[in-house]
Amino acid sequence: MDDMSPNKGELDPIEIASIDEIRATQLERLKWSLRHAYENVSMYKQRFDEAGVHPDDLQQLSDLSKFPFTYKNDLRDNYPFGLFAVPRSELIRLHASSGTTGKPTVVGYTKGDIDNWADLVARSLRAAGLRKGDMVHNAYGYGLFTGGLGAHYGIERLGATVVPMSGGQTEKQVGLISDFQPDGIMVTPSYMLNILEQFHKVGLDPRKSSLKVGIFGAEPWTDAMRAEVEAAFDMHAVDIYGLSEIMGPGVASECVETKDGPVIWEDHFLPEIIDPATGEVLPDGQTGELVFTTLTKEGLPMIRYRTRDLTCLLPGTARSMRRMAKITGRSDDMMILRGVNVFPSQIEEQVMATGGLAPYYQIELYKSGRMDAMRVFVEASTDSTDEMSKTAAARMLTKRIKDMVGVSTEIVVGDPGDVERSQGKAKRVIDNRDKD
Ligand code: DLL
Repeated sequence: MDDMSPNKGELDPIEIASIDEIRATQLERLKWSLRHAYENVSMYKQRFDEAGVHPDDLQQLSDLSKFPFTYKNDLRDNYPFGLFAVPRSELIRLHASSGTTGKPTVVGYTKGDIDNWADLVARSLRAAGLRKGDMVHNAYGYGLFTGGLGAHYGIERLGATVVPMSGGQTEKQVGLISDFQPDGIMVTPSYMLNILEQFHKVGLDPRKSSLKVGIFGAEPWTDAMRAEVEAAFDMHAVDIYGLSEIMGPGVASECVETKDGPVIWEDHFLPEIIDPATGEVLPDGQTGELVFTTLTKEGLPMIRYRTRDLTCLLPGTARSMRRMAKITGRSDDMMILRGVNVFPSQIEEQVMATGGLAPYYQIELYKSGRMDAMRVFVEASTDSTDEMSKTAAARMLTKRIKDMVGVSTEIVVGDPGDVERSQGKAKRVIDNRDKD
C-alpha cells in the first residue's frame, strides 16, 4: 500500500490548531448557534423556556449540559419543515431518511450549509490521502439519502474527478472501475464486498485494481472487516461517519496515516458522550451515546441531538481535534439474549476470525419458548463448500461466539451466494420474534 499521508501544509489550519484555539472557536460558534435556534425555531424556544435556560446562560462550553436534548422524534413531530431556522425559500436542498417506521426525517440546507458540507467532505477525503487531480468512484446512493450527493460535492470541492455511479448495478461498477482506473472509492463497506465478489466473478484480480483507498461508512463495520478489505484490494480502508440530522457524511473521518477512529470536525460540531439512561455527560474515554450540537448550521441547527450511536471520545493524534472510537453499534441495534447485551458488530468480528467462512452474514432473532434466541446465517468460503468443512466452521463459530460474546447461537453455514447481498446499508438483523 502506498504512503498517502498528507503534508501538514495541505491541511486546513484549524485541523492542527492548538486545543485552546479550537475551544475558543467552538465557544464563539456555540453561542451563535444556541441563539440562532432559540430565536428562529419555536420548538427550541419552548424547550429552553421550559428548562429555564436561555442562550445567555452559556458562558463556557460545559454549560451546554444545562440545555435540553433533541431527539429523532422531534423531527418527525415537526414534519416536514417545522424545525428549520430560515424561511423555506432560503434552503437550496432537502434530503430525507426513510427509517423503518413512521414519517421520514427531513433535513434542509442553506447555500452556506452546502458550502461547509462540501468543505468538510473535501477535508475528509484529504484525511484519507486523496488530493486534487485524483479520481473518485462514488457508489453511495444518490437521491434523498445524504451519502451520494454529500460525497459528490466534497469530491468536486477537493478538485478531484467524481464518477457519480450511485449504488447498485454491481457489474457496471466493476466495469467502470477497471476502465476508468479511479484512485479512491466511496461506498458502504457491505456493498464493497459485493464489488469484491464481482471482481472474482469476472476473473479480475482486485489486488491489481487502481484503487488506493476506500472511504467506507453509513453503517457499522469492524477492524476485522477493514483487514479483510485491505488485504483483498491491497488498498487502505478508512472510516467516514455522519448522519443526516447533523449534516450527512463527513461529520467525522479517519486519517489514513493513523486509522485510529474518525476525527470529529470539531470546528463545526460539538460532541458529547452521555449515559443513555440518565443523560449525564461522561468524561472522554468512557463509552456512551454520542450527542452532537451543530456550531455553524443555518438551515437546521441541532442542539444536543441524541444520535443513538454508541462510542467514546478519544484525544487527537494525527489532528488536534478529538476522535471517536469506531461505532460499536446503535442503542436500538442492541440485542439482549438471556441478559447478555449483543451487538451485530461482535458477531461480525467472530465470523471474520473463523476460517472457512466468507464475510457475509445475517442474524435472525426468534422465540424459543419464551426466550429470545439467535441464529446466524453465514456462507462457506469458495474453497470450503464441502459438508465436512461447513460443519467444522459452524462448530468453530458457535464456540467462538460462546467464548468471546457469551451467548449460545445456532449457526447455519450456507453456500456462496446464500446470504442476501447488501445494496447499500446492510440489513444485519432480521427480527422474527413476533412470528411463530
Ligand atoms: O448514513 C450518512 C453517511 C453517508 C455517512 C455515507 C457516511 C457515509 P443516515 O442515513 O442519516 O446518514 O444514517 C446515519 O448511520 O447515526 C450511524 O448509526 C450510521 N453510520 C453512519 N456512518 C457510520 C460509520 C448516513 N462510519 C446513521 N460507522 C448514523 C458506523 C455509521 N455507523
